[in-house]
Amino acid sequence: QSGKLSIDPAFVVAPVNRRVFGSFVEHMGRCVYGGIFEPGHATSDDDGLRGDVLELVRELGVTAVRYPGGNFVSGYRWEDGVGPVADRPTRLDPAWRTIETNAFGLNEFMAWARKAEVEPIMATNLGTRGLPEAMELLEYANHPQGTALSDLRIEHGAKEPHGIRLWCLGNEMDGPWQLGHMTAAEYGRVAAETARGMRQLDPDLELVACGSSGRAMATFGEWEATVLEHTYELVDYISAHAYYELEGDDVAGFLASSVDMDRFIRDVVATADHVGAKLASTKKIDISFDEWNVWYQRDLAGAVGQQDWTVAPRLSEDAYTVLDAVVVGSLLITLLQHSDRVTIACQAQLVNTIAPIRSEPDGPAWRQSIFHPFALMARHARGQVLDLRVDAPTLTTAKHGEVAVLDAVATHDAETGQLAVFVVNRNPTEAVSFATDLRGFGAASLTEAVVLADDDLFAANTMQEPDRVVPRPHTSAAVDGTTLRAELPPASWSMFRLQ
Ligand code: AHR
Repeated sequence: QSGKLSIDPAFVVAPVNRRVFGSFVEHMGRCVYGGIFEPGHATSDDDGLRGDVLELVRELGVTAVRYPGGNFVSGYRWEDGVGPVADRPTRLDPAWRTIETNAFGLNEFMAWARKAEVEPIMATNLGTRGLPEAMELLEYANHPQGTALSDLRIEHGAKEPHGIRLWCLGNEMDGPWQLGHMTAAEYGRVAAETARGMRQLDPDLELVACGSSGRAMATFGEWEATVLEHTYELVDYISAHAYYELEGDDVAGFLASSVDMDRFIRDVVATADHVGAKLASTKKIDISFDEWNVWYQRDLAGAVGQQDWTVAPRLSEDAYTVLDAVVVGSLLITLLQHSDRVTIACQAQLVNTIAPIRSEPDGPAWRQSIFHPFALMARHARGQVLDLRVDAPTLTTAKHGEVAVLDAVATHDAETGQLAVFVVNRNPTEAVSFATDLRGFGAASLTEAVVLADDDLFAANTMQEPDRVVPRPHTSAAVDGTTLRAELPPASWSMFRLQ
């Protein structure tokens, strides 16, 4: 099989928004406790923050991190997590059926975020709580001083205001599993009032309204329309969440997961623009794709609800394979292709729970297979996203119908002259010879070409063999005249860098 990309530096989608390389830290499983926070670990600092994990987070290139949930936030009292640790209450977390010690809270997270060099994205609880608590949290976090709550923060050791700009108005309020689940009209009203109140304290905040927890939700589409009818002029983003997993042996269907994500994004954009048109608004609502990943949810389903109440149990510590990494790379390609409207995205989650980074108590931390496409794209997707054309054969999948075997995105930094091309071959069994005409870029030469592929699609990194799955040099890649050529192995993700 063969396929072709057409790229031209003049055809631009939008700038690469750095916030698309976001992640998510939820009080779920061992993401916080034993993940980013493990007092006493050999690499931990005085705040109990694991140094080895911090180093990997920086290497991953994460730019923004959503906190503290997730389903967790819908039952969370933020006040429990501030002040002297000895005075903090231990509580039940009904979302994940675990014991929450509250040893880690807002101020610890902000200290971690500064060390990790990431922007915080704070979620408020609109499940068991509402407008008053959201406003109090905002005042505690961001007001400089001289009020009861801001002075309390200072008393708690955080002298400077945290300056958190980006806030999520609840989490997955469309989901029947969510504490305080609402209808779209109920949530739309609550979100509007919460946004209004928060904006009275600070008009410059950026606010995210909850969209759908998945494209398969029965309320999908109607939910976004109703919520935005209530909130259009008050919020900046509508969220989208999507998780994918290999079902049975449908490798082809799984490799084409990004087809579903692409449709999801197009549908939400169409719905948001429809509401904007009805309201005669010139404003555009962007998408915050603030939960996405490969997640073997079926493995978790039975566990939650059955386990005893314990502190930080092992939940969804999925061991990611080569195949999963190719799908993650492909989902990132889709997110970047939509850079004009998807301006925030968070891979869920960051450490241990559904995560690119794994760590063991008193032990090492390592990169999962899915770490690699994320890290390479976060590092090298720079400048502008280009509007390219893919000309490739198709294959028919039971799940997504007919799909092109190749999908790709390219970014071009006009200042440095760097061009990066990311391509996925979604054909599970056949290699594709691919070519890209580079005439529009002058005399471009190849500076790096790597591929994620393997004869064993189910190989994974483990504590014993942490580098089993890594990107390898693309030995077939070459620029011949003004054409970049390479053989793309079956089920592979590739990166080509040119200058
Ligand atoms: O990321 C895991 C969970 O997935 C989150 O808590 C929830 O928002 C989603 O359903």
